[in-house]
Amino acid sequence: MSRTIRVGIVGCGGIARAHVMGYQAEKVQFVGLTDASREAADKLAGELKHVPVYADYHELINKAKPDVVSICTPPVAHEAAAVYALKHGVHVLCEKPMAFDAAAARRLEVAAKKAAVQLMPAFRHRFIPGNLLLRKIVASGKIGDVVLFNNIFCGPAFGMEHKWFTKKKISGGGCLLDTSSHSVDLFRFIVGEVSGQKAVMHRHFKTTDVEDAGILSVKAKNGAIGTMQSSFVAGVGMAFIDIIGTKGRVLFEYGDRVLFRLTKDKDWTVKPVKVSGGWLEQIHHFLGAVKGQHPLSCTAHDGVRDMEIITAVYEK
Ligand SMILES: NC(=O)c1ccc[n+]([C@@H]2O[C@H](COP(=O)([O-])OP(=O)(O)OC[C@H]3O[C@@H](n4cnc5c(N)ncnc54)[C@H](O)[C@@H]3O)[C@@H](O)[C@H]2O)c1
Repeated sequence: MSRTIRVGIVGCGGIARAHVMGYQAEKVQFVGLTDASREAADKLAGELKHVPVYADYHELINKAKPDVVSICTPPVAHEAAAVYALKHGVHVLCEKPMAFDAAAARRLEVAAKKAAVQLMPAFRHRFIPGNLLLRKIVASGKIGDVVLFNNIFCGPAFGMEHKWFTKKKISGGGCLLDTSSHSVDLFRFIVGEVSGQKAVMHRHFKTTDVEDAGILSVKAKNGAIGTMQSSFVAGVGMAFIDIIGTKGRVLFEYGDRVLFRLTKDKDWTVKPVKVSGGWLEQIHHFLGAVKGQHPLSCTAHDGVRDMEIITAVYEK
């Protein structure tokens, strides 16, 4: 596709702004927005200056005729909008978790295969330079076989007990599905496919029906094991990935450097990395695939496996 790419946005809340920022860096044309709340859609339309607002995703797709849509609604609404877009030949960048449950994610994967257009789950952490360096170091074999993968993403997410994130029928799950979905994806991306999982969870909020603190443990087919911790209620934020292999260790604390050391080293080697949330890189990669420049590095199947691994611990 050599002409200007036409973009539609479904769901105009917080994360839609990050998608918009990424598309703006690519010089696309915004052709339409929609949101269940007219006020939310009008607000984003105002920020973008005169982008038409449509009543729903049917109208957006049929009238605005976008080439791509970003699905930025809560999980319960991902499947219907994404399947409709795919059936109409529209490429989809779908926020994580890819769907409300694993069955819905599998239906999405099938719809994308039938439609022969791109469906990418928005696992932006894959595009963060520090994580790409971790992956490169692990793949090089320098730290030996991975033994332990340890990750925490947590922070004070204020007011969560009143938001859709803690209402299971909208979110599909709590912090494990919301936040650790990134962690599971990173584990699969850096270490390898998962063969088993277990979790412990707790609910601090008394009026909600999902976990707001959780620890997920996974085992890879290659024998590496990992823990992923997340919480909506942690009073102090933390984000890191620490990987220990048979010959060394790499640590990324979501800053401007990756630390690396081998068994024989007396100290860390510091490797500077660009600070980025992965937002711009994610959209750049997605649009590159839409233009036929490269295959997706993050596929619908990655979205399915992520859902299968996390929702399996809810079923026990
Ligand atoms: N990748 C990340 O780092 C990241 C960060 C935050 C949120 N997210 C994900 O992005 C998605 C949206 O989260 P958010 O933080 O933007 O939430 P939000 O509540 O800020 O925005 C969601 C918007 O979707 C609208 N909406 C709800 N149901 C709809 C429907 N059926 N049709 C159209 N619009 C509908 C709401 O009115 C709201 O404006 C979720 O899947 C969430 O997990 C990803």
